[in-house]
Amino acid sequence: MKIGLFDSGIGGLSVLYELVKRIPSARYIYIADTFRAPYGTKPMEDILRISLEILSFLKLKGVDCIVSGCNTSDASLQSFKSDLGIPYYSIVKSVAFNELQGKVAVIGTEATVKSGIYKSQLENIGVTSVFQRSCQLFVAVVEEGITKGKMVDAIAKFYLTPVRRYNPSSVVLGCTHFPHLKRVIQSQLPGIFLCDPAKSVAEIVSRDCLLYTSPSPRDS
Ligand code: DGL
Repeated sequence: MKIGLFDSGIGGLSVLYELVKRIPSARYIYIADTFRAPYGTKPMEDILRISLEILSFLKLKGVDCIVSGCNTSDASLQSFKSDLGIPYYSIVKSVAFNELQGKVAVIGTEATVKSGIYKSQLENIGVTSVFQRSCQLFVAVVEEGITKGKMVDAIAKFYLTPVRRYNPSSVVLGCTHFPHLKRVIQSQLPGIFLCDPAKSVAEIVSRDCLLYTSPSPRDS
């Protein structure tokens, strides 16, 4: 089993980590498109063009499926209706596998928040109150390898104070860079459940992998 994934940088490693934990026997191809990072400040049509380019490249590399390692590119792909020819696992859609209720906040890149994609996914599963907050600078600090210290604390406080005031029961980490800052984010949002869609998408892929690889009754 060969699984492809990509992101604008190292964010998608949080998805890769969850996949390797569940499917250690698979082979992985990970593309970090650092040359064109960040994606979150670009217009959607540019993000879609880049995403389709990388999806074609991964297909040329012979992957059996592609797992989204980037919420922003996943948001752009929602408008792409053609068949990719191989299974594509959407990280944004996987949020529906979490039992979220009450007031939910979503933090993501500028483009993801602007697309409203999480808001509609959450509304589809019955969440009635969704607050969105773009935290674009988190991407830059993670790319710099800075995940703690005074500067990150100040950025987190700036972005997350309105989120805390909204008083949600859960906050969706709607960008794959954000799990790298989980401790800092949690310290600004004490007692609030941080929902990481990297875990739910990896769970869905691993269940499907079992189906592909489990012997049929006739084989046993
Ligand atoms: N890590 C990406 C995401 O999940 C993109 C971050 C960026 O390049 O702005 O949205």
